[in-house]
Amino acid sequence: MGKTVFILGTGFIGGSVLQGLLDENKYEIAALCRDDKKADKLNSLGVRPVMGTLHDDALLQKEAETADIILHVATADDKPSVESIVKGLEKRSKEKAPAIYIHTSGTGVLTVPTHPKELVFADKSQNLFDEKIPDNAPHREMDLTIKRAVESGKLNAKVSIILPPCIYGIGTGPFNRRSIQIPLYIHDAIKHNALQLYRPQLLWNNTHIKNLVTAYLTLLAHLESTTSTPPLYIIAETGEHAWREVYDIVDAELKKRNLISKDAEPQINAEEYPSTETGTQSRSKSELLHEWGWKVEKLESITESIAETIDHMQKIGEL
Ligand SMILES: *[C@@H]1O[C@H](CO)[C@@H](O)[C@H](O)[C@H]1NC(C)=O
Repeated sequence: MGKTVFILGTGFIGGSVLQGLLDENKYEIAALCRDDKKADKLNSLGVRPVMGTLHDDALLQKEAETADIILHVATADDKPSVESIVKGLEKRSKEKAPAIYIHTSGTGVLTVPTHPKELVFADKSQNLFDEKIPDNAPHREMDLTIKRAVESGKLNAKVSIILPPCIYGIGTGPFNRRSIQIPLYIHDAIKHNALQLYRPQLLWNNTHIKNLVTAYLTLLAHLESTTSTPPLYIIAETGEHAWREVYDIVDAELKKRNLISKDAEPQINAEEYPSTETGTQSRSKSELLHEWGWKVEKLESITESIAETIDHMQKIGEL
């Protein structure tokens, strides 16, 4: 019998990670699920649906207490579910081998406007994260909840927080395969019938969803093999863009499809677009995953993926 996995989240990232785990064919997987149709699909894939929501405290505690591996890939911003998992891991029998808990945060936590432009968060400099990230940064409250729990010494678990950058490409999971940041930016342009230029010079790192899946699997394999306390913050990026590069291609592709007027002039917008963190800066560097054998596949770049993303949004009836 394989190790048991409890995965929270089967959407764009979670579903793709779930498929990656299924492909490894060595785990017994359970997935949190609140929809009967999705439960049927999960059953057909050999995944046990755990019927409930992120706020079913007792349910989450019980699954976290008993699973060998817990992957929270549902959202970076839900504190109750993090607290439930932490409580479950506190209750886990000390006779048992430590569980593994991978929580998903995001490099949005690095988008603090007062950071100097040249500041890069590399994950071999773990102390930088705690020194430089203020408590009110995006996602930080959840990350701090985990950090404190780890430091309390009460968890029978090896814990890491993975921080994906801007994720692009089409997912590989059974349900939603659409990414978030760029599609929301596309909706924003269509709503204004003109591209919005949110601070185009600022930089973010990025990664293709397929490389993000292997990042999770590489981290998981590392946590399975290590006997020491793992580093808490794990960066998973494979590229970098200035927002301008994304904006230019979105403009061209939307005009080509008549989704915005051909003569629409892009509008300079001094704000940021909060729901996508577009027009903020987030500079990060993956070091640890490479040391642990992460094989990054050469895939299309973020700009090369935009046409395909718009096609996908049209195909699923979103545009
Ligand atoms: C990600 O961005 C950082 C900071 O600008 C840079 O040092 C790093 O090389 C970038 N990663 C890749 C793969 O380009």
